[in-house]
Parts: sequence; C-alpha cells; structure tokens
Amino acid sequence: MKGIKEMEYYLAPMEGITGHIYRNAVHEFFGDGVSKYYSPFIVVHEKRAMSFKEIEDILPEHNEGMHLVPQVLTDDAEGFLRIEKKLAEFGYREVNLNLGCPSKTVASKGRGSGFLGRKEALDRFLYEIYEGRVMDISIKTRIGEVDPDELFELIEIYNKYPVKELIIHPRVRYEYYKGKPHRDVFYEGFKLSKNPVCYNGDVLGADDVLKLKEGTEDKLAAIMIGRGMLRDPSLIRTLTGGSPYTAGELKEFLARLRSDYSQLFSGEKPVLQKMKELWGYMKYEFPDKEKQVNSLLKCRTLSEYKNFELFIL
Ligand SMILES: Cc1cc2nc3c(=O)[nH]c(=O)nc-3n(C[C@H](O)[C@H](O)[C@H](O)COP(=O)(O)O)c2cc1C
Repeated sequence: MKGIKEMEYYLAPMEGITGHIYRNAVHEFFGDGVSKYYSPFIVVHEKRAMSFKEIEDILPEHNEGMHLVPQVLTDDAEGFLRIEKKLAEFGYREVNLNLGCPSKTVASKGRGSGFLGRKEALDRFLYEIYEGRVMDISIKTRIGEVDPDELFELIEIYNKYPVKELIIHPRVRYEYYKGKPHRDVFYEGFKLSKNPVCYNGDVLGADDVLKLKEGTEDKLAAIMIGRGMLRDPSLIRTLTGGSPYTAGELKEFLARLRSDYSQLFSGEKPVLQKMKELWGYMKYEFPDKEKQVNSLLKCRTLSEYKNFELFIL
C-alpha cells in the first residue's frame, strides 16, 4: 500500500502548452516527484513523416534528464508503427496512444475520443499495433464517446492486450473538460482492468488523491495531472512531500519560460501569447488579484506584461 507521497505522478500532455520549453522549465524548477512527462500528440500523416516541430519537441537533447513518453494520435495502425519505429531510433522505449482528444477536428475524423465509438475498428487497430510493436505501448483514454458506461466494453477490449499502462480520463467525448469527472465509473473500470491503471482528471490537491485512493481500496498507484500543474507547477512536488512554490521561484520559472520562448520564436507576439495562455490557468492561484490578472491577460507588449507580473507576484 502506498501513501500519497510514494505514488507516481505524471505531467499530462497538453497541446500548445506542455512542449519541451515548458517541460524543461518544470523539470528544472519543480521536477521533484514528477516521474514521467508526456509529449503533446504527434499526428500521423499518410503522406509525410513527423513535422519539424514534432521532432524538435521529442529530440532527446531537448528532453535531457527527464523521462519522456511521446504520444501519437492516429487510427491508422501502419502509420502508428511507422512513427513508433522512428521513436525507437531516438531511443524511446514507450509510446502513448491518444484515445481521448475531444476536439472536433480530431474526433470527427474518428481519431482520439472519436475512435472510441468505432469499437470493432479500435479492437482491430490495437491487435495490429500490439502485434507489430517494437516497444511498450500505453493508452490514454476517455470512458466513451457518448455514454460513460461504454468504459466496460472498452475495458474488455483493452484487457485483450498487454497495455503498459491504461490512463483513464473519466469523461466522454462530448463532455470535453467540463462538469465533474465520472469517478464512480472510473472505480468500476479500475477493478475490471487487467492492465495497470493511472487516473487523470481534475486533481488539484491532496484531498483529490486521498479520495481516489479510497475509491480504489488504496490500490491506485499513478496519477496524471494537467491543469492542476499549469495552475500550480509545484503541485506534484508538494504531493510528494516537498515545499509549495515561493513567489521568487515562480518569478524565475516564468522568466525562464519567457526567455526560452523568446529564443524559439521571432517577435514578442507569440511569446506573449504563450505566457497569457499559461496565466489563463495560473490565475486561479491568485483570486485576490483578479484585476491585475485581467489586465495582464489584455496587455499588448512584453514590457507591459512584465509590469503586471511584478504586480501579481
Ligand atoms: C489545452 C489542452 C491541450 C491538451 N492536449 C492534449 C494532448 O495533446 N494529448 C492528450 O492526451 N491530452 C491532451 N489534453 C488533455 C489533458 O492531457 C488532460 O487529460 C485533461 O486536461 C484532464 O486532466 P486535468 O484535469 O488534470 O487537466 C489537453 C487538454 C487541454 C486543456
């Protein structure tokens, strides 16, 4: 039986946010306790290999010292195996399959959470990738496309394969990230899964972890956290027995992000956009500074931004 501190905690993949710049900053400033980082999804294209941006993100030299699991999004087994072999050449030993993305452009093409509604095709796809694989394959899944009870059928399918880890986000496709996750359905699925299960969804602190442990009769061993970490990047460090962030640390962390994004992009607009996107989540940490945060979210230059950041921290 593991206590809260001994559990495994992973940083969730978040397209446009948790790329290598963000991951490296988290790893350097708040990495204690983060046992794995997941890359935002790499899309399989029939006619072309991985994009420059996708390769840059998973290059080992851009992810030094951290355990990164690249994630792939597709419903094409051949394409999946092609990218998986490429990832093996980079030295990776685990790849994660995205069966959760709810965005219309992805799911309407039958990928991500859109694949969950095509269960026979999904089963065939999984058969082919687990037959042809050269490395471990983990899966990040929602509990269904329309109905939370789809999870039971999905678990039967997943149980046929040696899934390295089944990360379950207990919402269906059409719930996007809204409303409460169906934790009761998760607990049922947890019991039925033959594969190791990791929980993901709305974990913001120790209370959530305690409840999840209780619901799984203390058997849950791993939790993936997304928005909770964007809001408080020291969340996993705190859960694993370390200290919460100090204002000084947060300032340095944000300065590192600004500086690294400035080197990556030309012009300050995209840098400002990245910082504001992050503040869209961090703002919940500063409920008594709502006015200043709103001004920061509206500012137009980096120097204005820096002033507002100073006001807030
Ligand atoms: C902006 C954004 C981008 C995301 N990108 C991905 C992604 O690339 N791959 C993926 O599996 N999930 C992605 N997710 C889902 C998260 O990994 C996670 O499952 C979700 O935020 C719920 O966990 P949380 O409540 O801890 O944030 C994304 C979510 C958001 C809000």
